[in-house]
Amino acid sequence: MDIRVKSTQPETQKSACIVVAIYEKRQLSPSAKAVDDVAGKRISNLLKKGDFNGKLGHTQLLDNPEGIAAERILLVGCGPQKKLTIKSYRKIQCHILNALKNSNIKEAILFSNELDIKDSSTADKTRHAAEALLEANYSFDELKSTPKPASTLKTLSINIENKRELAKAKQAVETAHAIASGMDIARRLGNLPGNICTPTYLARQANLQAKSCQKTKVTVLHEADMKKLKMGSLLSVSKGSRQPPKLIVIEYKGGKAKDRPYVLVGKGVTFDSGGISLKPGAAMDEMKFDMCGAAGVIGTMDAVSKLKLNINVVALVPSVENMPDGAASKPGDIVTSMSGQTIEILNTDAEGRLILCDALTYAETFNPKTVIDTATLTGACVVALGSHCSGLLSNNDKLADDLLKAGNTSGDRTWQMPLWDEYTEQLKSNFADMANIGSREAGTITAACFLSKFTKKYKWAHIDIAGVAWHSGAKKGATGRPVPLLTQYLINQK
Ligand code: BES
Ligand code: MN
Ligand code: ZN
Repeated sequence: MDIRVKSTQPETQKSACIVVAIYEKRQLSPSAKAVDDVAGKRISNLLKKGDFNGKLGHTQLLDNPEGIAAERILLVGCGPQKKLTIKSYRKIQCHILNALKNSNIKEAILFSNELDIKDSSTADKTRHAAEALLEANYSFDELKSTPKPASTLKTLSINIENKRELAKAKQAVETAHAIASGMDIARRLGNLPGNICTPTYLARQANLQAKSCQKTKVTVLHEADMKKLKMGSLLSVSKGSRQPPKLIVIEYKGGKAKDRPYVLVGKGVTFDSGGISLKPGAAMDEMKFDMCGAAGVIGTMDAVSKLKLNINVVALVPSVENMPDGAASKPGDIVTSMSGQTIEILNTDAEGRLILCDALTYAETFNPKTVIDTATLTGACVVALGSHCSGLLSNNDKLADDLLKAGNTSGDRTWQMPLWDEYTEQLKSNFADMANIGSREAGTITAACFLSKFTKKYKWAHIDIAGVAWHSGAKKGATGRPVPLLTQYLINQK
């Protein structure tokens, strides 16, 4: 589906469908009023009858309107005018898309950009509208024997009231297209099951993607390479699985050869059974999403290349499957990480940090400007923050602020938690340099404290996406987060 911008009048624009907004209590938006005035009061009559009241998300299609050039009018309810936020604005776009898709329309023009939202520019609204529309257009049915017929909807135009803002709006749509494409990639990889999306599969997908992405190169480190690098911690997780581990390295060179790269690291556990510390059965299928950090950085690399950012970015994806097996790690086992530090594995289900720590040590070889890792790392993060924001922990205040800002701009928000020494105490081990778990308290923070022992040489932030990476229940599926957050952070660095 393509999204464009235009600057025109609702009553004279030829189109299969014009979309106009109605506020709650039957208030017409300016475009709705303009249309109503020339179309024989069709809208206000309908509102008077009480058939449509402008509640957020309600839609109604009007066929064969008189007096205007368009073939149909789609009314979309926006709720109370004063309560509009970017979030509800994005929801409105989802409802528009669903209504259009349900009615076999090929093309439409949206007049919803004229809605007033506090602190949002035309470009902001355009970007969020385009992103929300593209996001709502995603579907995953490649594993159904009879896929749904493709949607007939091919083009959506977003009307921009002020012609002078067209250029900026166009740019905003391009950004939205890049982010949405990165999110589609991340969602697809996340939704694929563990028997298909293995570490080897992820590596192959990264290679395929690099072929279509400019200035992008992929290198895959295999088990033997990792043994040479002495990644004993990462390898201790994969040895319980029949799937060989991979460390995928994606390099994007949009900057000067000498520019230090921004390094992204994504947890790629393609299935997390817990290992010998086996997880309970309920909802264990959702642990196929334990590679959403990996999917997020792979998707972000696609967006970065589409946006042609003039910086250098490296993505590192340590990928393994965490399984119980005769060869698997046992509670109490002690392994030596690439950094030389030894780790007592008290719980084999705290495997994410065991693979990330070696990838984080490997990140040093790139002389990074900053390193950001992202992972579905702790159930504790879901308890602490729910699904509205990810957890952010950092050893550098400027980096943390940059990520908080990028989260607010993109709508893919984070919330900072403390990374204090007091918490690190919990990781003491009688037998090794550290244990891989703390007590029951502050699980997200102690996980980050563990990682912080491997990130002393650079500016680093950790983003725990356990609560935001996928939906459970009826809408079960990957969300594509944190692609918007990471991409926005990188956009802001250029
Ligand atoms: N992948 C899980 C974290 C997770 C669990 C994310 C549920 C989303 C939903 C991670 O590998 C894990 O198992 N963490 C343990 C850590 C514990 C053993 C210290 C957890 O959160 O229970
Ligand atoms: Mn686990
Ligand atoms: Zn895990």
